[in-house]
Amino acid sequence: MCPGSFDPVTNGHLDIVGRASRLFDEVIVGVLINQSKTGLFTVDERIDMLREVTRSYDNVRVESFRGLLVDFCHAQRASVLIKGLRAVSDFDYELQMAQMNIGLAGVETLFMPTNPLYSFLSSSLVKDVAKWGGDISAHVPEVVRSALLARLDPPSRP
Ligand code: PNS
Repeated sequence: MCPGSFDPVTNGHLDIVGRASRLFDEVIVGVLINQSKTGLFTVDERIDMLREVTRSYDNVRVESFRGLLVDFCHAQRASVLIKGLRAVSDFDYELQMAQMNIGLAGVETLFMPTNPLYSFLSSSLVKDVAKWGGDISAHVPEVVRSALLARLDPPSRP
């Protein structure tokens, strides 16, 4: 299980999903439905983009979930969570979540070091750079770049 908000998916996420797909028979990308946080993209839009950019991986499927991640893992019969670590700063929170998830339901977490090419990447940074007209073409797939440009308010871009 590769869980996240994916608002939107970046090349950093894709790197982790692609590498996980080579290690496991089946990979589920779990998109969190978070009612207390409105994203730039709806969950359906995020899922459409994720399905498009993972189409070449036969063993990857994209699903949404609400509530506890471990419950979703059980419902999907997924026993391992894969999390990318970009830097040591990710580790504290990820460790807390991993320990909570194994304690709650015995779901294991495996950490995968992010490709250094993407170690500074996040969905929030990409959205901010795109909003102000910066070039994000190296950071997200083309379908995501066009969706971002279409969604962001044109007057805020130079
Ligand atoms: O991409 P994100 O927003 O960093 O992903 C965070 C995510 C979805 C992995 C995390 O918020 C999560 O697992 N949420 C589901 C609710 C839950 O299970 N919370 C307890 C986590 S220990």
